[in-house]
Amino acid sequence: MKAIILVGGQGIRMRPLTNHIPKNIVPLCGVPFLTYQVEALRKAGIREIVFSIGYRPQDIKKVFRSGSHLGVKIHYALESHPLGTAGAIKNAEKFVKGSSTVVFNGDILTDIPLSTMIKLHKKKKHWATLGLVRVEDPMAYGLVLLDAKNNITKFLEKPAAEEVVTDTINAGVYVFEPQVFDLIPEGVNYSAERALFPHLLKDHHPFGGYVWEGYWQDIGTPKKYLTSHWDVLNGVFPVHAKLEQKHNHIYMGKNIKLGKGVLIKGPVIIEDGCVIHEDARILPYAVLGKNCVIGRKSIVSRSVLWEGVQVGEHVNLDEVVLGRHCSISSHSRVGAGSVLGDRARV
Ligand code: GDD
Ligand code: MG
Repeated sequence: MKAIILVGGQGIRMRPLTNHIPKNIVPLCGVPFLTYQVEALRKAGIREIVFSIGYRPQDIKKVFRSGSHLGVKIHYALESHPLGTAGAIKNAEKFVKGSSTVVFNGDILTDIPLSTMIKLHKKKKHWATLGLVRVEDPMAYGLVLLDAKNNITKFLEKPAAEEVVTDTINAGVYVFEPQVFDLIPEGVNYSAERALFPHLLKDHHPFGGYVWEGYWQDIGTPKKYLTSHWDVLNGVFPVHAKLEQKHNHIYMGKNIKLGKGVLIKGPVIIEDGCVIHEDARILPYAVLGKNCVIGRKSIVSRSVLWEGVQVGEHVNLDEVVLGRHCSISSHSRVGAGSVLGDRARV
């Protein structure tokens, strides 16, 4: 069993955070987002993973290299123009040829039990099995209808309001047999959701679903990106960053300087080299990247600060996301829900 992760889009809905970094490698609690998928695959015994990349490949290669530091072998399949979701899967075929393959959309965070899903896929002798989840509003996703035996009977990408007849959607995790790759044309833009899945249905190939009732999130927007941090800090996923866990879920890196009267209440993450000045408060669900500076009497709660953010005195940050090297001057206000790109100054 091998795996392909689709690392494609530009992350338009995540702007301005993704102006200078692909969305698949934005930090989540101190490690690049894709680390969570690599870990899930490794836990399921999959050691060979292809990153099928359509955008800024050098940024991603620089971070993941050969994969050996994560205990896996990572191959890179690059495209000269966007091939679409199925086209990108086909483009990675040479690395997985002849093997059953798990495919992950590169922007989802889930604890779906891959081993159980793979077992079901094999037992039912499917050509393709899709991981499925239930959501309140399926219109932003791929709608999936199942029969009583969990065979897929319909797949409708981004349904219109009147087409929503179920809450079950495509979770963006698949298991494919090698035959599925033969249905995808080479070198052209081809969609898994709009072309490949309808093709499987039209030709009556064995095609089923595995419904997962556990955790699932598409990190496509800054709001979801922020709440994913809270979910990790709540223990849905391990904190993968190399940090020391103190009491009460306070995760700290090295060389951190704490001024007199600083209050820290977990769960929080404070990475290497942060400086917290006197009487500042770091409150639950604050995540401070490397070398952040928090000024005297400032408060950070439920917020994510990327590397090198400088915060002056008497600033209250709640529910904000600040990109790398942002600078917030003393006494200024940054409203809840604010998202600032790299190097923004307030
Ligand atoms: N390499 C490559 N090339 N990857 C691509 C391309 C491409 O041309 N287009 C998209 N991708 C990658 C994206 O980076 C992402 O990881 C994944 O494929 C899915 O694309 P999105 O653009 O995020 O699609 P979506 O979120 O609107 O919908 C998809 O995900 C939903 C679940 O989150 C669909 O698969 C839906 O059916 C599904 O419900
Ligand atoms: Mg998506």
